[in-house]
Amino acid sequence: MRIGDLAIDVPVLLAPMAAVTDLPFRTVCEEFGVGLTITEFLSAHALSIGDPKTCGKLTASLDGRRFGVQIFGREPAAMEAAARLAVAIGASLVDINMGCPAKRVVAGECGSALMREPAIAQELVRAVVAAVPPSVPVTVKHRAGWTQDHRNAPEFACAMVEAGAKMITVHGRTRTQGFSGKSDPDIIRQVRDALPAHIPLVGNGDVIDVAGYVRLREQTGCDAVMIGRGALGNPWLFARLREVTAGRPDPGPPGLVERLAVFRRHVDLIEALKRGPRMLHEVRKSCAWYARGLYGCNALRLRVWDAPDVAAARALVEDYFAQLIERQRRLGLAPESERGDMDREFAGDEAA
Ligand SMILES: Cc1cc2nc3c(=O)[nH]c(=O)nc-3n(C[C@H](O)[C@H](O)[C@H](O)COP(=O)(O)O)c2cc1C
Repeated sequence: MRIGDLAIDVPVLLAPMAAVTDLPFRTVCEEFGVGLTITEFLSAHALSIGDPKTCGKLTASLDGRRFGVQIFGREPAAMEAAARLAVAIGASLVDINMGCPAKRVVAGECGSALMREPAIAQELVRAVVAAVPPSVPVTVKHRAGWTQDHRNAPEFACAMVEAGAKMITVHGRTRTQGFSGKSDPDIIRQVRDALPAHIPLVGNGDVIDVAGYVRLREQTGCDAVMIGRGALGNPWLFARLREVTAGRPDPGPPGLVERLAVFRRHVDLIEALKRGPRMLHEVRKSCAWYARGLYGCNALRLRVWDAPDVAAARALVEDYFAQLIERQRRLGLAPESERGDMDREFAGDEAA
């Protein structure tokens, strides 16, 4: 897939997620072969005035890997300044958030609120395009529309492209849906039909496995798929999709040993890259992610939440996986198991 002059080998993107797609998590996903990662949305205003917390989240991917930065706002001058900061740290792409449904964001007439004001949204795209070098594509991520009765994604996407956007991502829910209901592939298909052929469309919403990826591409004709929640504690999905999209066999889900190894890698990255009291919080979150869907995961999560420090949290997870691996051996279960299968296999056991 090409976004302007930028070539993306694997047509799978990690969705920007606030408080999730930090540098450690992006790194893990990149190591598993995701096509591109994007920072969480960053307030253009906060970046432009040098707010330390927001500037701390403006992070380049490691080892020179390409990455995108997502910004939000509605003041052209702040958006320009933020986009320049993104380029200064080496961003390959600047994405503008026009999909966030959060009250505090739409109260400021930013995020998905911009879908009700296409002319202002276009002004922002033009300002950001003018602020960055031509080699850095400006892209827009938005929703199906504001409400069920106002699903203007096809016209809105075309207006953003007319203003200079080089790629559109559509999450097939409306703002009023928030995260309820289902993402609608039909609106994504309508956007694909409306956009010029050379503009890539990224479909987003509810993809959690290889079958979901294939289905969304077939149903909508989208050029790539963006995955958010389905990647939490499941970065293997990107390795599986890299293989499948290259026409090779699906390597399947990870076994427990591999799951534990990636947990260790993720926590090593958190320890190396994060500072302060948030570090323990981040480690606790990742403990829960990598155990999600496995036998006894809820009990582990509660114990980890009480762990006084990172070493204690790590020890709990090591012990948990050691017991799980031993149990799997004792019960003669297959080493490779989908999470759903694992749930079913252990359902009776858990209840006992
Ligand atoms: C915790 C969380 C934080 C999110 N933060 C952002 C964000 O910063 N920028 C953005 O464009 N979308 C954000 N989203 C929306 C996701 O990028 C994505 O559009 C949505 O989750 C649907 O995709 P999924 O079903 O694959 O998760 C967030 C979603 C979640 C769950």
